[in-house]
Amino acid sequence: MNIYERIKSKRGYITALAPMEGVTDSLFRQMICKIGRPDLFFTEFLNVEGFCSEGKEKVVHRVKFLQKEKPIVVQLWGNTPDYYEKTVRSVKKLEPDGIDINIGCSVRDILSSGKCSALIKEKDLVKEIISVVKKEAGDLPVSVKTRLGYDAIDVEGWIGFLLEQDLDLLTIHGRTSKEGYAVPAKWDEISRCVELRDRISPTTLILGNGDVKSLEQGKEYVKRYGVDGFMIAREIIINPWVFKGKTEVSERERINILIEHLNLLQKTWGNKKPFNTQKKYIKAYIKGFDGANELRKVLMDANTREEAIKILNNFK
Ligand SMILES: Cc1cc2nc3c(=O)[nH]c(=O)nc-3n(C[C@H](O)[C@H](O)[C@H](O)COP(=O)(O)O)c2cc1C
Repeated sequence: MNIYERIKSKRGYITALAPMEGVTDSLFRQMICKIGRPDLFFTEFLNVEGFCSEGKEKVVHRVKFLQKEKPIVVQLWGNTPDYYEKTVRSVKKLEPDGIDINIGCSVRDILSSGKCSALIKEKDLVKEIISVVKKEAGDLPVSVKTRLGYDAIDVEGWIGFLLEQDLDLLTIHGRTSKEGYAVPAKWDEISRCVELRDRISPTTLILGNGDVKSLEQGKEYVKRYGVDGFMIAREIIINPWVFKGKTEVSERERINILIEHLNLLQKTWGNKKPFNTQKKYIKAYIKGFDGANELRKVLMDANTREEAIKILNNFK
């Protein structure tokens, strides 16, 4: 049994925190471990071309993790099979729980370089990439995260093709690449992918992704659409307690968590990561109590970690 099957057999479905570049780094994942964790984490995506270049040291932090973040899947992107091979050989030494290939990101610059969801139009290349990754990954499960199609929904053609690649897990974001985020995620189409899976590759587990805002909603979608689990992305920076199933979080808890986050920032990064990069988390933690808006404004104006901690301590 692979890790995904084990999680599913234990609790009936899988909960996962999505890979989010610039958001779900090791520091934030460690905070989510304290707050309320999902079954499965994904790293931020790592570009295999970058990892196989001289700039390697600048990007390798993206796939590093602590033991307590496991199970965790390393996500890769790129369009050069040789570089996938070298990258998988190297990141395997970190002992992740799986390797995931990003064929979903629809950022314009990335698409114009023929990577991520641009690969939806390159089935032969995708087949080669998956085959190289599987060979190099050995016992590690291999998965793909993708969308419903490139400029049109193509469940039979695109998802059907992926299901023929004998993947351990497939995450489907219920929009096309062209749609970006402009329309609601189409869970009915994800459900059609599940039906196709039952016919083509019953051992490939499917995570549905798109617009899930609570554990309750996710569980409801598991029942309604037949997926093996669900992945949450943007909601984590609206409600970091989402995997705990909590919406009511006290003022004290919120402030203490932000202080812990800022202390961990120092411990993890020293002075290498500027305080400004953390303001998205301030917005996530500091809300929903009397005086939260004012406190948030003052914190957003702060220039250093130390200044922010002082403001928080004075507020308490
Ligand atoms: C800031 C940001 C960064 C993202 N980075 C990645 C990434 O590195 N890899 C990936 O597969 N998807 C990435 N995504 C897409 C999400 O994982 C997810 O598929 C998408 O946001 C839909 O889920 P949601 O409706 O729960 O947000 C990113 C999304 C956002 C908003």
